[in-house]
Amino acid sequence: ASLIPPETLRWITFGHYEADECGAMNEWLAVAPEAQVAHGQTGVSVSLNDMASRPPRVLDDGERIDLGGGKVVRYIDTPHTPHGWDAGVLFEDSTGTLMCGDLFTQLGNEPALVHGDVVGPAIAAEDVFHYSSLNPGMGMTIRGLAKLAPKTLALMHGPSFAGDGAAAINALADDYDRRIGDRLAEFGFARAA
Ligand SMILES: [Fe+2]
Ligand SMILES: [Fe+2]
Repeated sequence: ASLIPPETLRWITFGHYEADECGAMNEWLAVAPEAQVAHGQTGVSVSLNDMASRPPRVLDDGERIDLGGGKVVRYIDTPHTPHGWDAGVLFEDSTGTLMCGDLFTQLGNEPALVHGDVVGPAIAAEDVFHYSSLNPGMGMTIRGLAKLAPKTLALMHGPSFAGDGAAAINALADDYDRRIGDRLAEFGFARAA
């Protein structure tokens, strides 16, 4: 209530259906009678139609919601990336902010906004937690987000990063390609030339 009167809230959304993403979804719906959960086709079909206390809205890949005040958020499907069939991210056009969900997860206690390396700490956290569903399309899925050229990467598990978002995204995608190639090599599959 110190940020926004809950009863004025219109939209509730999140990266994917997991307790740390949306465990309070129905409590929010209870205190915000005008609010509706919005998510991608997969999340709505697999979980939210059953689990949300009011019917959710389905967002197509790339569909925008006008929040008013010049703010427009776009929903982007990122299936299985970093994990969850229903995974997606949000991009706010006017500020160039990519809400990354679990992408770029890092350890440590940084200031709220950093300008330095956001990729190295993400690689280190993946080495610790192995939280991503390594999949052949992962590098391509992540690299697709670079086209948005975000000015700010808003991490769920870590600080926000201000700087060249596209470069950071491409570097993260390169590291997942390396990681997936290493795993394939372990199983005796040659890398593609
Ligand atoms: Fe997650
Ligand atoms: Fe998370």
